[in-house]
Amino acid sequence: MSKQIQVSGLDAYYGSHKAIEDVSMTIEPRSITAFIGPSGCGKSTFLRTLNRMHEVIPGARVDGKVLLDGEDLYAPTVEPVSVRRMIGMVFQRPNPFPTMSIYENVAAGLRLNGRVSKSTMDGIVEESLKGANLWNEVKDRLNKPGAGLSGGQQQRLCIARAIAVRPQVLLMDEPCSALDPISTLAIEDLMAKLKDEFTIVIVTHNMQQAARVSDRTAFFNLAAQGKPGKVIEMDETSRMFTNPSQKATEDYITGRFG
Ligand SMILES: Nc1ncnc2c1ncn2[C@@H]1O[C@H](COP(=O)(O)OP(=O)(O)O)[C@@H](O)[C@H]1O
Ligand SMILES: [Mg+2]
Repeated sequence: MSKQIQVSGLDAYYGSHKAIEDVSMTIEPRSITAFIGPSGCGKSTFLRTLNRMHEVIPGARVDGKVLLDGEDLYAPTVEPVSVRRMIGMVFQRPNPFPTMSIYENVAAGLRLNGRVSKSTMDGIVEESLKGANLWNEVKDRLNKPGAGLSGGQQQRLCIARAIAVRPQVLLMDEPCSALDPISTLAIEDLMAKLKDEFTIVIVTHNMQQAARVSDRTAFFNLAAQGKPGKVIEMDETSRMFTNPSQKATEDYITGRFG
């Protein structure tokens, strides 16, 4: 179940430091949205405001609105934990639980949600590993530690773990930047498949990757050194990479700054 995200007037702070300012955008379901821009312009910060991970940092806070299919994720009645269940996250460095088996890594999130029978769990683990294009490589060693897999396999294990709880949105923060080119292509193929089912948002510093995988792209930038990051331009990826409307976007994608 894929859902639309609507953000309006979002500011994010670390204490008194405003990291991003006045971000508004619509993120469409069953599509891939890429965030690009120079480092330090608030892409990761913004991504973490979408599933309320930003506020776990002491002193961090958010102003503005994030709606998931119309529901205000920052309403006082909403539990941050339930938001993180609906909107899963995959990080830059694959971070499987090192002492847990492959099977238990995938099952971990579901165990937190309550009791699940062995046969149901077996089914969900298999389906999630298939969904992450990893099943064939690991089906004969499900009880071996997740840490024994290659980097690319570990990242797909983390994706299997994220989709096992059936989120509506998957956030990925530079998911390929620690991977070799072959594993990167495997993750990109996987994203193209996952977008049938999930709303996907990816931060990437790799322009070719944004161009290859995403349907829409948002370009983040700092107005000036020490100022908060902003969205300069957001558009269909094909248009953004061929005919950007802002000079700053063009300079960035053609490598003239950054
Ligand atoms: N945990 C943190 N505590 C304080 N400041 C932070 C923290 N994380 C990021 N920032 C600051 O927020 C700004 C945006 O950072 P970030 O979101 O990581 O940018 P990007 O992902 O685009 O590289 C930067 O000025 C950075 O120093
Ligand atoms: Mg970042």
